[in-house]
Amino acid sequence: MFFDKIEAAPADPILGLTEEFRNDTKPNKINLGVGVYKNDAGETPVLKTVKKAEKIILDTEKTKSYLSIPGTPEYGRLVQGLVFGEGDEIVVSKRACTAQAPGGTGALRVGADFLIQQKIANKIWISNPTWVNHFKVFGAAGFETAQYNYYNPTTHGLDFEGMKQSLRQAKAGDVVLLHGCCHNPTGIDPKPEQWEELAKLTAELNLLPFFDFAYQGFGNGVNEDAVGIRTFAKYHKEFLVASSFSKNFGLYNERIGAITVVNADAEQCAKSFSQLKIAIRANYSNPPAHGAKIVETILSNPELRAEWENEVKEMRERIKTMRNLLVTKLKELGVNQDFSFINEQNGMFSFSGLNKEQVNKLKTQFGVYIVGSGRISVAGITTHNIDALCTAIAGVL
Ligand code: LMR
Repeated sequence: MFFDKIEAAPADPILGLTEEFRNDTKPNKINLGVGVYKNDAGETPVLKTVKKAEKIILDTEKTKSYLSIPGTPEYGRLVQGLVFGEGDEIVVSKRACTAQAPGGTGALRVGADFLIQQKIANKIWISNPTWVNHFKVFGAAGFETAQYNYYNPTTHGLDFEGMKQSLRQAKAGDVVLLHGCCHNPTGIDPKPEQWEELAKLTAELNLLPFFDFAYQGFGNGVNEDAVGIRTFAKYHKEFLVASSFSKNFGLYNERIGAITVVNADAEQCAKSFSQLKIAIRANYSNPPAHGAKIVETILSNPELRAEWENEVKEMRERIKTMRNLLVTKLKELGVNQDFSFINEQNGMFSFSGLNKEQVNKLKTQFGVYIVGSGRISVAGITTHNIDALCTAIAGVL
């Protein structure tokens, strides 16, 4: 026998919840676990601009032949425009290379493989708390992981002093993973002046920044949300960015993202790009085309692009409205605990402060599913489920 020593693995803390939710027979169950945007009808529809782009693609597509290992140069150029801003020095000087990747997770993994294979680093500092999969992705690539302080449970805000203090424990040459915006799970981002300080500090300490940029446009705007990355670019010649288009294009199951490596100059960039391609080729050979074509079609067409930015704005604003409603309704229900900090958080998630026991009660007694850390996907709250949600929260406090 070969396989009889294999033990059953625990369910994934986020995606496993969706499975559990599907099997729950409670009539008014609510899934606020996974980070998937829903409209007020509780649906995750295909964006209008995506539908339009798909029609164009269907009408004009001539072949299903392979893409090149990093995807098309046009896709890379468009992603760089989104991340750094059109016409930015990094883009113009061609010192950044971008490869298409299967979602944000795939982008993180390709970047991690590249760093390990090139023996650039073997230790990465990750925020405490973070998206749970970060440990698995970087661990699987061969990274040792360490955590830096991030969240202050008393203020429900950023533990900025603690963060700087723990980053000072890192060795020169270590990697520091930062959430570009809409920190997952806390929803708390550094303010512009804090980004500035962090960029200076990490440059002084000679740490290599690696940005996980999965929610561009869900915080304050497509451009506004790049403030952290663009500030770091002033102080760091070299860094990586993993972009995801799951949320801002609603392309969850198309698995579309990108990995960008910023280098000191164009000559180094060409070398890095060649090695990035080696990492991809050994992994999944070359990427699937459909999601990339959608993103490319929308971003390269001024009309579609403007319409897409509006769709992102609509999603962002609906989430903000739900944050507000959640705070107001809890107060109306007579909940004494102050939840107003939820209004200060960015993006899809709210770190509610609910403990494991309360989270478990929400699930078993009320059929309300949130992540074990107390993370609520605010993007799944609607005017139809808010009352049941607030009653459930009040019931477990
Ligand atoms: C989340 O954090 O809910 C999303 O990024 C989905 C995932 O893959 O975990």
